[in-house]
Amino acid sequence: MGEPIHELRSIDELTHALERVGYHAPRRLVTSVFLAMKLGRPLLLEGEPGVGKTELAKALAKVLHRPMLRLQCYDGMEQREALYEWNHTAQLLHMRAAQATQTAAEIEQEVYQSRYLIRRPLLQALEAPAPGAVLLIDEVDRADEPFEAFLLEYLGEYQVSIPELGTIKAQVAPITILTSNRTRDLNDAVKRRCLYQWMDYPERERELAIVQSQAPNAGPLLSEAVTEFVSRLRSLPFANAFQRSPGIAESVEWAKALVALDTLALDPEVIQDTAGILFKQREDVAALMPMIDELLRPAPQQV
Ligand SMILES: Nc1ncnc2c1ncn2[C@@H]1O[C@H](COP(=O)(O)OP(=O)(O)O)[C@@H](O)[C@H]1O
Ligand SMILES: [Mg+2]
Repeated sequence: MGEPIHELRSIDELTHALERVGYHAPRRLVTSVFLAMKLGRPLLLEGEPGVGKTELAKALAKVLHRPMLRLQCYDGMEQREALYEWNHTAQLLHMRAAQATQTAAEIEQEVYQSRYLIRRPLLQALEAPAPGAVLLIDEVDRADEPFEAFLLEYLGEYQVSIPELGTIKAQVAPITILTSNRTRDLNDAVKRRCLYQWMDYPERERELAIVQSQAPNAGPLLSEAVTEFVSRLRSLPFANAFQRSPGIAESVEWAKALVALDTLALDPEVIQDTAGILFKQREDVAALMPMIDELLRPAPQQV
């Protein structure tokens, strides 16, 4: 896996370290990550599903040898799932045991000690010892607005307030990555506290490298055919024909499936039979069918 990076010296070094753990990133993206770390700011990654947002946080944690804490957001998520909750059962047991010998006021003070806290990812990240943790706040667009508002204190100052215990501030700023599939616009106040990076599908060369490393049995010709076909699928004038374009994981999966079927070259029949790997919506599979021939046509010669 290579040497861990203890100190980040350059963007090139970070690029290569990410590559060694299997993550292929363009320079612009690595620059954002580098700056987020140097400036101690959260990084907001926005882009279509399957472009590598979540994977980047995981790869970064590996490269830096730091624990990754992940908060998967969803509609209706509450603070107690993000930050902490009290362990009521343990508190109750404590109360029962203490009742015989202590006053109510003493007991109340004792049940709100930090050992009765159940720590959720945000609090774990704040309390992580040096060199700190990587906190992934994944798919923040799925959470609701009150939750976004709740995040502001963390994002701005790397601290949170717990009524019974006071303010808890990070000794080392956690490397914080937020992702959004942009199903809705995020709150401006959240954006202002973050560095921002839009992530697109990879260019063909990069996706080819990813497919070759994750589906090594596919061989160069098949890998090239797969990435060429998928990149045409995603680009105009077809782009709007589909509800959801295939992501990187689908390209890799498709290459593996084609190998499993002993496919040497793409033809309309094998594409029809395996279309369910590229698309997970019935309408998209149907939309693909009449386009296959056009998509397989050799590229016109450049003049
Ligand atoms: N830059 C990359 N290098 C290597 N593999 C990648 C890269 N981007 C994505 N992948 C692969 O694609 C899969 C889907 O990426 P993911 O991070 O889950 O997408 P997102 O979070 O943007 O929806 C990952 O599990 C990983 O295998
Ligand atoms: Mg993701």
